[in-house]
Amino acid sequence: MNQTIAFIQREILKEKPEQASLGFGKYFTDYMFVMDYDVEKGWHDARITPYEPITLDPSAMVFHYGQAIFEGMKAYKAADGTIQMFRPEKNMKRLNDSCDRLCIPQIDEEFLLTAIKQLVLTEKDWVPNEEGTSLYIRPFIFSTEPYLGVRPSHQYKLLVILSPSGAYYGDQLSPVKIYVEEQYVRAVIGGVGHVKTAGNYAASLKAQEKAESNGYAQILWLDAKENKYVEEVGSMNIFFKINGEVLTPKLNGSILPGVTRDSVIELLKYWNVPVREARISIEEVYSAHERGELEEVFGAGTAAVISPVGGLNWNGRAITINDNQIGKLSQRIYDEMIAIQLGKKADPFNWTVKIAQVEV
Ligand SMILES: Cc1ncc(COP(=O)(O)O)c(C=O)c1O
Repeated sequence: MNQTIAFIQREILKEKPEQASLGFGKYFTDYMFVMDYDVEKGWHDARITPYEPITLDPSAMVFHYGQAIFEGMKAYKAADGTIQMFRPEKNMKRLNDSCDRLCIPQIDEEFLLTAIKQLVLTEKDWVPNEEGTSLYIRPFIFSTEPYLGVRPSHQYKLLVILSPSGAYYGDQLSPVKIYVEEQYVRAVIGGVGHVKTAGNYAASLKAQEKAESNGYAQILWLDAKENKYVEEVGSMNIFFKINGEVLTPKLNGSILPGVTRDSVIELLKYWNVPVREARISIEEVYSAHERGELEEVFGAGTAAVISPVGGLNWNGRAITINDNQIGKLSQRIYDEMIAIQLGKKADPFNWTVKIAQVEV
């Protein structure tokens, strides 16, 4: 795509929040990236503009037929002031996979990545630098054509917004309790579970509320057909260490192919730790626990990187995993991934992409 990116300056910059109060998804930076699509011009009008509300027609198709997709990735500030991203090309590819499934026109992955780097560079002072913090990057696309009738829209908007985010954990990783959901399902094979569309998350809310009201942090979804095979957690993929071997559900068309999931698998292979993608029944997980072979369970996703699971509840059967302690392997993977993301350790996989070097 042969496009330039216009820059529209903001008059007054916002006051930046204290790093300790960042949390997640609460603050947004001064600028955002915007690009529009229509049938005649294709994707056009790429621009970095002040972050501000957008106006949409009440009949904009997204409100009625839900063509809305998104991505989530992070930029980190290393100790030496380098700002870097983690495998962003994977997110660009997954965004296009989501476009494809939702009948949204493809984007130029390389161009969008350039635009994102430019936006992050513009907002370099917003990248926090305390341990565990990052600048969360949220690209998203939705249909804007004012029209009622079920068909793909002829007009879209692509935006990228940035949100400085705090450390997911305090001083150290802490295990979470997870509820194995049997009544509701997340996704079916042939549906949209393997892409990042807003409706998947809307559909998960009821079950998430139920899990929380029962004292559980997240849901472990089972397959929609047999209610038997483990799929993934609310916003993470899941791993089980059973008798020395690490297992994760095989991508089957209803599971989101996580960037972190892929990285964990590669890292384990690199370390010669046995790892296998397989169809895993929840019964199998419970039997392994009964035999004393369920050594560790952990989730993997951009937000938390690694989230140790200390307990599961399936059908009223609550089990504790590894004495509700952080597993050794979970901790090792977490430490390694964070070290690579922050440039503290060599990156033998070429996962990190440098954006800028700033003064510290
Ligand atoms: C449903 C779901 N599964 C898994 C993941 C983990 O994916 P990633 O590692 O790319 O963040 C996410 C987060 O994006 C998610 O929303």
